[in-house]
Amino acid sequence: MTAPPTNPAPVEPPPKRLKLHGRAFYESIGSPKRIVAPMVDASELAWRILSRKYNADAAYSPMLHARLFAETEHYRRQSLRYAPTSDAEPALSYDGDHKSDRPFLIQFCANDPQHLLAAAKVAQHHCDAIDLNLGCPQGIARKGHYGAFLQEQPDLIYKLINTLHEGLDVPVTAKIRILETKEKTLEYAKMVLDAGASILTVHGRRRDQKSHNTGLADWSYIRYLRENLPSETVIFANGNILYNADVEACLEATGADGVMCAETNLYNPAVFMPPTASFEERFPRVDVMVRQYLQIVQDLTFGEGNPVVELTKEQTREHASLTCIKSHLFRLLHAVFTRKENHYIRNNLAKATGQKFCEILKLADELEKVVEEQLKLTPETQEQWDGIMKEIGGPGADAKILRIPWWRCQPYVRPTPQQAYENGAMQKSKKQLNAAAPKESKRELDSESATSDSKGEMPAKRQKLEEPQPESTRENGQLASLDSNVCG
Ligand SMILES: Cc1cc2nc3c(=O)[nH]c(=O)nc-3n(C[C@H](O)[C@H](O)[C@H](O)COP(=O)(O)O)c2cc1C
Repeated sequence: MTAPPTNPAPVEPPPKRLKLHGRAFYESIGSPKRIVAPMVDASELAWRILSRKYNADAAYSPMLHARLFAETEHYRRQSLRYAPTSDAEPALSYDGDHKSDRPFLIQFCANDPQHLLAAAKVAQHHCDAIDLNLGCPQGIARKGHYGAFLQEQPDLIYKLINTLHEGLDVPVTAKIRILETKEKTLEYAKMVLDAGASILTVHGRRRDQKSHNTGLADWSYIRYLRENLPSETVIFANGNILYNADVEACLEATGADGVMCAETNLYNPAVFMPPTASFEERFPRVDVMVRQYLQIVQDLTFGEGNPVVELTKEQTREHASLTCIKSHLFRLLHAVFTRKENHYIRNNLAKATGQKFCEILKLADELEKVVEEQLKLTPETQEQWDGIMKEIGGPGADAKILRIPWWRCQPYVRPTPQQAYENGAMQKSKKQLNAAAPKESKRELDSESATSDSKGEMPAKRQKLEEPQPESTRENGQLASLDSNVCG
């Protein structure tokens, strides 16, 4: 791997491009196949640069709030690092940098076409397209009335997309979740495309598939859309990517043009490496990955070759990459932290802050030592790698069999809903319990549901009582997005 491409000289804004639509637009940005998903607090500039080094062809910004972006300079500054406007400014990479951050799509959530248009008009100068989030299933989206909670208002969705289609210099794209049936999903997709969306990303889960109840994405819905929409329609498939081979399997199963990946990209940024890549390239050592990532953050924050200094809280907040460090490191190191002897690193990470970047760098030194020592004790062999690689056959790959060593980046395989019941992470629904339970537990449940808050946001206790998913077909686990900030 080469050093991160940071600190380019200030770049002139590109000449205005002819506005293309649909497949012509897709081809104009290089027909990307491996796409880093929009992720709140996670698909920020530093992470996108890292992912692109590991073969991502395109990337989305974290979801931004259209009204806040349109109205608040402070929010804009926190959300995007703008292109330098004068030579006097340090030559750092910036969001949408033509040398290090393209193709790049900026995603908004919105429920008001004029707010959305105002925000998108500012953002369009920094990206290739503007994306509308129609997939966020979280309580915050229910409360703010955006994301997947617009599904019941097709007219509003049409207006939002069409306003951008008519009013922007760049194309508009949209990310949706599937509905209850294939036919309804197709109708929904057609409406989004008729409104002017150039690319349709389909997350193969329904709105109620979240938290412990996430379950598997249904690729057959995406296949159905592919078969029933004109071939000119550009589709990105989203969901169920654990290993590199899953990307190819998804393209084949769905017929989509590209595959978007979120969670696994955070646990193993090398997930987009091609099937021909070596074991080392597909499952890089965590200490190497952490080092590369921190180097990008350091260069973006302080400038290449400049000393690392302690920042104020306010300065830290102005650097999106600094505010995200800890959550990235926790995910990258999740397998490392399954070892008791490494818990002290976890505890030190928990105490560290982006303000004191030096302390984070010390943790990286410590991690490197720990991995080096482990490798002296248990050197890896080609035979072991070949064994693991043989097991990766596609979406049925079994992480327990793979036994990827803890010092290598690897996906997080979640428990099935059944396992979540057994370990107490998820509870049976009120309906299920009422059907079979003795009287006391019914009373308990009734008093729990009475705690529902009056603002209409789903209370935590109610969330736990959602209907379970049917048992997953993947034996040892399934993908799920447990993060509280998962938005799509
Ligand atoms: C940490 C995190 C943050 C996310 N934030 C967003 C977001 O800002 N916008 C969005 O449309 N989806 C968001 N999502 C959802 C993903 O884009 C994606 O649709 C979902 O995780 C399914 O893909 P996966 O199976 O590859 O994880 C987020 C997911 C994660 C894990």
